[in-house]
Amino acid sequence: MASIRDYLFDTDFLEQSLTYLTDTLKLAVSVIDSQGQTVLNHPAPAGELPARREFSFQFTLPIGGLRCAAPDETALDQAEPHIRYCLAALHNQLQREAELRETTDEMLRLSSQLNFLYQVARKIVGIDDMRKCYQIILAEIAGAIKADQGFIHTRGRWEEEIRVTHRMSDQEVDTVRYNLCLRHANADHTIICASETGASLLFSPIKEKEGSSGQAVFIREPGQRPFSAYEKQFVGIIENIISPTFETLRLYDSLQDLYLNTVKALAAAIDAKDEYTHGHSFRVAKYAIAIGSQLELDNLHLNDLEISGYMHDLGKIGVSEMILGKPGKLTHDEFRLIQKHPVFTDKILQPIKLPDRILEGAIQHHERMDGTGYPYGLKGTEISLFGRIIAVADVFDALTSKRPYRDALPVEEALKTMCDGIDCQYDREVLLAFIAALRTNRLEEMLGEINLGLRYEAVQNFNQFLVELTEFTMSPARQETTITKGTTEP
Ligand SMILES: [Fe+2]
Repeated sequence: MASIRDYLFDTDFLEQSLTYLTDTLKLAVSVIDSQGQTVLNHPAPAGELPARREFSFQFTLPIGGLRCAAPDETALDQAEPHIRYCLAALHNQLQREAELRETTDEMLRLSSQLNFLYQVARKIVGIDDMRKCYQIILAEIAGAIKADQGFIHTRGRWEEEIRVTHRMSDQEVDTVRYNLCLRHANADHTIICASETGASLLFSPIKEKEGSSGQAVFIREPGQRPFSAYEKQFVGIIENIISPTFETLRLYDSLQDLYLNTVKALAAAIDAKDEYTHGHSFRVAKYAIAIGSQLELDNLHLNDLEISGYMHDLGKIGVSEMILGKPGKLTHDEFRLIQKHPVFTDKILQPIKLPDRILEGAIQHHERMDGTGYPYGLKGTEISLFGRIIAVADVFDALTSKRPYRDALPVEEALKTMCDGIDCQYDREVLLAFIAALRTNRLEEMLGEINLGLRYEAVQNFNQFLVELTEFTMSPARQETTITKGTTEP
């Protein structure tokens, strides 16, 4: 039978509540399960005292409650408000832990999907034989969802039919197509269905701009567990991410963008959690590339820097939308939760064998040069170059974007504010590279294409402003004087 001990991870909290009820209020307390059976006595069985009352835990499932006993009813009456207070605290704890479990499950799901896509992308990048690519994608998905059979039937670049199979004969494919695919020809998303023989099938349309160009079908034999909603969601990746790749293949374009497009789609989904951060990851990636180019990073590093920029706030999936978009001041606990998002990013990306620099950039973008940043309090060059670049890109976008608690700052004011944080918050060289990138590129190219909504104090003097800002930042006097502590928080 279910009891609170099956659901409460932090059992110390339960122990402390019970100790309070027994030691301070002199009650005998038993924890009972959903059938009223005692699972824990604290310190003596509650049944030994004459006055007894039971209080149920409020949870999504029946998990029993507390049986409290006292020498008489008056003592119980006096204790009841305290008992209810303890119950309310336990309910809060149960709720928090349930939410945390949900978040962890979501992160694990996201992580395994990202890992899968990364592995597939690695295998097919560089292969220009469409049939081979389809075969790899089919085998990888069939393996991931433990399908017994499967096939992809679609059109080739000359509109010819292409068919690849996984443990199926052509005749079996024809039968399934005739019996099932014609019936679901208009389906525009992945569905689970069953064949007349009792096999479980996952049917996923391959969508292109012009409509459906074919289908991918996975089959689990009769007598096996039917496909689940999670497996359906997994195959749904075909619709959302792999279908555009099929189209790209069909149009004989490059496959190099597959992984980047996946990451962009995820970043856009994270940004959409907060109405104030639409396009934030895109802009941070672009600003980071501008800085990286100025620092003369090669194309491979610039490509990785872009991915790192897209991924830098991935961990915000673990932070509630209510907190991300809260208009007022954050509580201490809320701020601490937001500060955990780089750790969540780390957890999501760890299982994927990405180059270290991509991970470091994403995880270290809130570290500060003076070691007072988070999550690890790294100092100076302990922070990777990617981390120091994304920190500058991230704050510039945060300052020049509207937030629930303030308006967007003009570009000049944002840059001046950031210069105040040189050496304590930002790497001098990186910030100078950003300013230099603004000077060497035409303003419209550098900023206009990234964010059309930027505000300026006096755009006609922008270059002059940048020259002065550079001189000011590089002046020895400035380097020796105390720099105002940057308090910018994106
Ligand atoms: Fe962040």
